[in-house]
Formats: sequence, structure tokens, C-alpha cells
Amino acid sequence: MERSLVLVKPDGVQRGLIGEVISRLERRGLRLVAARFVQVSQELAETHYAIHKGKPFYDGLIKYITSAPVMAMAWEGPNAIAAIRQTMGATRPTEAAPGSIRHDYALEVGRNLTHASDSGENGAKEVALWFKAEELVNWGRDVDRWIFEG
Ligand SMILES: Nc1ncnc2c1ncn2[C@@H]1O[C@H](COP(=O)(O)OP(=O)(O)O)[C@@H](O)[C@H]1O
Ligand SMILES: [Mg+2]
Repeated sequence: MERSLVLVKPDGVQRGLIGEVISRLERRGLRLVAARFVQVSQELAETHYAIHKGKPFYDGLIKYITSAPVMAMAWEGPNAIAAIRQTMGATRPTEAAPGSIRHDYALEVGRNLTHASDSGENGAKEVALWFKAEELVNWGRDVDRWIFEG
């Protein structure tokens, strides 16, 4: 079972796409673990995007993610990392697969609506950065056995 942080970034929130993102992840079969609507602080933004520090788009990225509230969530499931990144689509919306969120709703890499963790290890790290342990809900659904093979 893998976990991923998912953010509906400020553009997604402003455009009323929180429900669309949640709906697609639910429909995929993924299980929600935690959710928090939050105005991102400068400090959290810099920690979250530390890996991109020094890149030409870094300052714009920090400005973007702190510009308005985001919907932060943790989702889990088998192959959650690959499945969620596929549902989001490639980083550049014009390279995102048809049917993915970034393909269907976005045009520019700097306004690409969502964030998803890129590995199981980073998923665990990012979920721990954005949520306290007591905010993570351990639960099961009756339908899990029809979605999760194990
Ligand atoms: N060349 C770029 N110009 C502007 N923003 C960028 C660029 N590359 C990446 N970004 C922004 O930084 C975020 C983080 O980059 P990255 O981790 O490579 O993509 P992803 O969000 O798909 O994992 C992207 O989602 C996008 O919002
Ligand atoms: Mg990334």
C-alpha cells in the first residue's frame, strides 16, 4: 500500500476543481486518508519544494503555491503513486495524456492545478510534512476487497 500527498493548488481551488480532483481519485478506487484546506505559509512552501530551490522557476513556484488556499490531502492504495500521477497527467499540460486532469483543465506548467508525490518514499515524507500523525485516518471500506487484490 502506498501513500501520496495530493494538493489541489491555488489555481485548482480558484477554478472550483477541488470536487473534480477528489471525484477522479475516488472513482479510481483510491482511499482518502486525510484532508486539510490551508493557506500555505512561506516556510511550508519552501520545505515542500526544497528540491527545486535554485531552479529558474523556483521563485514563481513559491509565489504560486502561497498565492491562495490549497486543498491538501493524503490518498492511499496499491500503486497509489503511479496511479495518481497518471490521473494528474504529465507536469507540462501539453504533454499530459488526454483524459488526465492536467490535459483536460490546464495549459501552462506554472498553472498545472495539482501536486502528487513522485515516489513511495517521498509520499511518506510529504504526508508527514503536511499532516500530523493524528490527522491520518486508518479506515477500511466494504468495497476495498473489490478494488485491492491483497
Ligand atoms: N519550467 C517550469 N516553469 C514553471 N513552473 C514549473 C516548471 N517546471 C515545474 N514547474 C512547477 O513546479 C512544480 C513541481 O515540478 P515537478 O516536481 O518537476 O513536477 P510535478 O508537479 O509534476 O511533480 C510543477 O508541478 C509546476 O507547477
Ligand atoms: Mg514533483
